[in-house]
Amino acid sequence: MGISLDAGFLKGFVGDADIKAFAPAVDKAHKDLHNKTGAGNDFLGWVHLPSQVPDALVSELTALAKEVQGHSDAIISIGIGGSYLGIRSTLEFLGGEPKVPVYYAGHNMSSVDMNRIIGLIARKNVTVVVISKSGATTEPALAFRIVDAAMKRKYSGAELKKRVICVTDAKKGALRKIADKEGYRSYVIPDDVGGRFSILTPVGLVPLALAGVDIKAFVDGFRAGEKEYADPDLSKNVCYRYAAIRNVLYKKGKCIEMMASFYPNVQYVAEWWKQLYGESEGKGGRGIFPASTILSTDLHSMGQLMQDGMRNIFETFLMINAVDATVIVPSDPEDLDKFNCVAGKELDWVNKQAYKATAGAHYEGGVPNMCITLDKADAFHIGQLYYFFEKGVGISGYILGVNPFDQPGVEAYKTKMFALLGKK
Ligand code: PA5
Repeated sequence: MGISLDAGFLKGFVGDADIKAFAPAVDKAHKDLHNKTGAGNDFLGWVHLPSQVPDALVSELTALAKEVQGHSDAIISIGIGGSYLGIRSTLEFLGGEPKVPVYYAGHNMSSVDMNRIIGLIARKNVTVVVISKSGATTEPALAFRIVDAAMKRKYSGAELKKRVICVTDAKKGALRKIADKEGYRSYVIPDDVGGRFSILTPVGLVPLALAGVDIKAFVDGFRAGEKEYADPDLSKNVCYRYAAIRNVLYKKGKCIEMMASFYPNVQYVAEWWKQLYGESEGKGGRGIFPASTILSTDLHSMGQLMQDGMRNIFETFLMINAVDATVIVPSDPEDLDKFNCVAGKELDWVNKQAYKATAGAHYEGGVPNMCITLDKADAFHIGQLYYFFEKGVGISGYILGVNPFDQPGVEAYKTKMFALLGKK
């Protein structure tokens, strides 16, 4: 199973009849996704991508990873949006020490951050992975211009070529031209997979493999998701149920979805999810606003608003069942803080009681909530979770009546910025 959905704290807000009322819309959305008959149908390559990822690509990237791990102490991953968030989200979720640490550039234009990257190139043996589907996005294009110049100050010839890897379109865009002109190795992002759905393409697979992630398990997780969430029956498909519940709540005025977790390694998973849901659904004056909290930390800041603020929020908790690390609360002979009640218990057990208490209190305070639980925090489960959310937003966006696969609103700031920069 791998991933479960607990809807216990929706009682009184979302009834079975409410969910069933969405069955025809879910059914139509399912058919539109699978038969490519809905809006944005030229960007549906992600639906069956898991079963189509060639095993040969996994083997090739595993060999590439071995080579890079042999000559590099750091990887610089350049990209923004869908070409950035999933990589960071996966590495932070998996935690531990990657075989080679990854540093990020191209998702901001901070000189302070960029100076650190330039310093890193001077001090360490690095490999650069530059990722841009369009090959024309300002932030990563400028970052790569600067990083490429720094790489050329340090390396040349074959040594340089071995240390710069481009992930971009097969034919279009400036990055493709640069890769071909410089003779850099390159990997192709399929045309029919949009940026925020691209973590299973070389966008994610290349940097994750280099960092030492078990990409075979990652792909297998996606494959499990593709199988598990293929049945349109709402009573069996938890992913479709999640999509329907969101829409029931939205119709009842809950226009903010707060993703909350008691596990800090989930912070960037929530950032990835925010892009996926915000960019897919927020259009035409519609869309649920995706926000996130990390608890207990934010219980002592956002907790007040969650408990007692405007009642336009619902919460989706993201929990992990089996946690690797074991920490036992010690007993204290004096028990001054009165916490001997949990002496001998695992800290993770206490954490899970905090979840139960929070979910119950927020529900009583008027915030309906549900919980998605992963069996484990490993490469397989994060792969399955990504597919769960991708399929979920495809269904949810179609129910909402938007095209979940475009992002026309992202262009507005670019037009104004290009005018200020004098870019033709
Ligand atoms: O979802 C999307 O398509 C966007 O958010 C892109 O991922 C982001 O704008 C980066 O685009 P590119 O990879 O073309 O540089």
